[in-house]
Amino acid sequence: MAGEARRGPGPRGGAVRELLLLLLLLCLRVPSGRPYNVDTESALLYRGPPNTLFGYSLVLHGHGANRWLVVGAPTARWLANASVVNPGAIYRCRIGGNPGLTCEQLQLGSPNGEPCGKTCLEERDNQWLGVTLSRQPGENGSIVTCGHRWKNIFYIKNENKLPMGVCYGMPSDLRTELSKRIAPCYQGSSSICRAST
Ligand SMILES: *[C@@H]1O[C@H](CO)[C@@H](O)[C@H](O)[C@H]1NC(C)=O
Ligand SMILES: *[C@@H]1O[C@H](CO)[C@@H](O)[C@H](O)[C@H]1NC(C)=O
Repeated sequence: MAGEARRGPGPRGGAVRELLLLLLLLCLRVPSGRPYNVDTESALLYRGPPNTLFGYSLVLHGHGANRWLVVGAPTARWLANASVVNPGAIYRCRIGGNPGLTCEQLQLGSPNGEPCGKTCLEERDNQWLGVTLSRQPGENGSIVTCGHRWKNIFYIKNENKLPMGVCYGMPSDLRTELSKRIAPCYQGSSSICRAST
């Protein structure tokens, strides 16, 4: 019996037990604390390419009648330009009407690169795109994904690389050709990181 354990609970054990009891009581009393079960038997198991950290981040997304699981894989290869070293990517996996449970890589950014500013030269190798993913709440909310290891290598001759990070925002319909690159930490010649308002 728990109350007659051979080695007495001691003052610390007693306190822990009281705390557990208190937590239990709180759980019973707070009406919002409802338990639920995770359905493990009819789970949908989406698999990504190996060694890509597929699943590091994810959001559930809906647009019109379409339901998607959007998944980050921050060390994935980029299908649009294989010579960028493991830049990471995000994938969309359709929920429903997808018997093979397949996922498709979303193509963000221009394969041959794009200018990022007067004193900016991008390095996309190992940028960890897809490390974070978020979706605006509500209908038609857009999706944003970031790669915190994107670097500005403009000053590489006399300074270190500047790991400023990059984000891409895309509309709710996931038309990546309408995606926009955001580099919130690049401010011309200064490298002050300004949080979005
Ligand atoms: C792929 O990216 C590399 C590095 O940014 C660039 O030098 C090269 O031109 C790109 N290739 C294509 C086909 O866009
Ligand atoms: C969301 O998008 C759909 C299709 O583009 C459009 O018909 C609908 O009005 C939009 N809803 C809102 C709240 O903007």
